[in-house]
Amino acid sequence: MKVTVLGAAGGIGQALSLLLKTQLPAGSDLSLYDIAPVTPGVAVDLSHIPTQVAIKGFAGEDPTAALEGADIVLISAGVARKPGMDRSDLFNINAGIVKNLIEKVALTCPKACIGIITNPVNTTVPIAAEVLKNAGVYDPAKLFGITTLDVIRSETFLAEAKGLNPADVKINVIGGHSGVTILPLISQTGLDFSDAEIAAMTTRIQNAGTEVVEAKAGGGSATLSMGQAAARFCLSLVKASQGEDVIECAYVDGGSEHSKFFAQPIKLGPSGVKEVLGYGEISAFEKQAIEGMLETLDGDIKIGVDFV
Ligand code: NAI
Repeated sequence: MKVTVLGAAGGIGQALSLLLKTQLPAGSDLSLYDIAPVTPGVAVDLSHIPTQVAIKGFAGEDPTAALEGADIVLISAGVARKPGMDRSDLFNINAGIVKNLIEKVALTCPKACIGIITNPVNTTVPIAAEVLKNAGVYDPAKLFGITTLDVIRSETFLAEAKGLNPADVKINVIGGHSGVTILPLISQTGLDFSDAEIAAMTTRIQNAGTEVVEAKAGGGSATLSMGQAAARFCLSLVKASQGEDVIECAYVDGGSEHSKFFAQPIKLGPSGVKEVLGYGEISAFEKQAIEGMLETLDGDIKIGVDFV
């Protein structure tokens, strides 16, 4: 397997690259690209970690060399939030960055699975889909908005509230990846919460990114927890490529009655999405939350499609 990280010198990119260097299967290749000149140095630094993962770093204007032969491309290139910003404020800069990078992916490794981290994910994923369509290489089964951070935050906060081991908490988080579009299906966890507690927990999970942005006070948004989340998602793609059925939630095109792009549980296989799974029984509160998010989500998607 070859995994390429675009935006590899950034806060997420470096954490993610470290986790992949230590956790990808022996024999894998890891390729780092960023416009930042330090990127080859990040790769040299990581190359001193004794694992059987070969690593190379590339900087400059053109990601082509980093993308050659990639099976999985993870994109965290772009700018992150500062206090007072929401994810849609990042659109003006990040939309163009994602568009340009996906054009290179379409040319260089059109069959790769692509995981998009760059915000606003609700919009950058439709941008990627349109660019790939225009290039004639779009496979919806291979394009993912990475929403795993919402899942790991939910696991952590729910476990904390109930004094459990987070490894024992499993939850689906559906919808999108911003504010009201993030919907953790707490009713399905079997954990005993009152309606008021579920409402408060849902709000906390929806605003968890802002919790980090405010705590970092101008120094950026979630990077280390996002590195972990993206590594988990990437390693699930790797396991699936080796024939294991793995289920993760991700923001994908198709399979939802609600919206063209929707985050939901999916079964991964050797070619990306094997099956979009239904999200099962949900509570009246969760049904209402889906109704409440759709206008925002559809608007976010339209902005992406119109941009391309
Ligand atoms: P950062 O500013 O630390 O790193 C971004 C990196 O992208 C920098 O190294 C920069 O040089 C690079 N870059 C900029 N333009 C580029 C281009 N055209 N090609 C290649 N590299 C380029 O930001 P951070 O904290 O790593 O965040 C990255 C993105 O991830 C942001 O958009 C942020 O909002 C998003 N994010 C997504 C999350 C999710 O759950 N999906 C969670 C947290 C952040």
